Amino acid sequence: MKSNHHLSKRGLKAAEKPLRVDMDIYFQAMEDRYHHYTNPEGKFPMNVAENQLCWDALKEKIQAITKSQEIPDWVSSYGDPAGVLSLREASAHFLSGYLTHVPIPPETLAFSSGATSVIELTSFLLADHGDTAVIPAPSYPVYSADIGVIPGIKRYNLQTHHEIEEIKNGIPLSIELLEKSKLEIESSGSNFRMLILTTPDNPTGSIYSEDQLNHLADWCIKNEIHLIVNEIYGLSRIDTSNPEIKEDYPNPIHFVSFAQLMAERRNPYLHFWYSFSKDFGISGFRVGLLHSYNEDLIGGYRNAGLSHSVSNYTQWILTEVLKDRIFLDAYIETNQKALTTSYLMVVRCLKKSEIPFNPSYGSLFVWADLSEFLLENSDKGQHDLWLDIYQHSGILFTPGAGFGHQKKGLFRLVISSVDHQALEVAMERFSAYITKRRNT
Ligand SMILES: Cc1ncc(COP(=O)(O)O)c(C=O)c1O
Repeated sequence: MKSNHHLSKRGLKAAEKPLRVDMDIYFQAMEDRYHHYTNPEGKFPMNVAENQLCWDALKEKIQAITKSQEIPDWVSSYGDPAGVLSLREASAHFLSGYLTHVPIPPETLAFSSGATSVIELTSFLLADHGDTAVIPAPSYPVYSADIGVIPGIKRYNLQTHHEIEEIKNGIPLSIELLEKSKLEIESSGSNFRMLILTTPDNPTGSIYSEDQLNHLADWCIKNEIHLIVNEIYGLSRIDTSNPEIKEDYPNPIHFVSFAQLMAERRNPYLHFWYSFSKDFGISGFRVGLLHSYNEDLIGGYRNAGLSHSVSNYTQWILTEVLKDRIFLDAYIETNQKALTTSYLMVVRCLKKSEIPFNPSYGSLFVWADLSEFLLENSDKGQHDLWLDIYQHSGILFTPGAGFGHQKKGLFRLVISSVDHQALEVAMERFSAYITKRRNT
């Protein structure tokens, strides 16, 4: 018997609100997943942000570690709730070598079980219940739950544009827009406490230029607003110099890690998030990190973070992986090549079918505009189109709801959740769907 009567008010709210609207269909699609020989009519789950492209190589590496090394005794005990020193040192070294290109002091890092947990705990410590976090739209739908369910922070979807082509030279997030949203938030009785940016961005694949990050950081510091940059897709970068797509970037933006600006300023209002879930394709390991020069924040994180901590066994394995620079060099290069191949396959199909999309610099996505197929310009129309695509092609994209963007009919295509052979078939089916829709 299903009864929620023994729950708190917030428990009831949680029981009623699913984390994502697409999970049931996703599990259905996973059960009936396409396979070249065994299930050629199967489905393509391209809605969950997973990177399945290079797991085999990482699996081999992890198996070699567990076969050749004795498990250290410390893994069976409690450790530092913010991450053991060996993982903090190995991660600092890894980040500075591959992503940030500035030294990262290990004491500025704190770990939790995935970026999800890091986002929740950081938000809990930086903002009070009822405060507001501004997030340029469209953006990662689950931010709402991460900052909302436990920290009690409101999400403000800042509309920086309407049409997809308005972001082809970068996300037009300006100081004017921030000033306007600040006034609006304050007049509603809340505080603009945090600005959250994702670069490369989920879902658009855009990146912020160094100049833009500098202006935003200055404005946030002046207004005592925490600026947090999520670089969870920092190494999932597309080779934009590839001749097939080079012309899609007439004014190329150079990726600069926010950690570089942080190292120069060392300001308590600037923070950085990272996780191994995407660049390493290990979302199941649940390892994410906060980097901040705000000592109180790191201290509070350690004191309040025990329920979010990462298993010591996982910390040990990851530390061993991160110590092997030869492996990392090869792995990151192979992953970026595989990701670029997937990206080319998807955008080739979109270009052929004349579907507008945003040229991506990185992430696991392509953000595409399918609004011409909406039967109704509403949330319902958008949901119906998403289902129609699934029912007629077997391809499950991420539904547009929850990204917070005002225009209807835009969808996120995850390019790394199926292998290249399957992606080729998925794109053929998608082209056929488009042709059929245009002819009816
Ligand atoms: C922008 C962003 N942040 C955080 C997460 C969650 O990451 P994790 O699996 O490390 O909790 C995701 C996953 O899709 C994401 O896209």
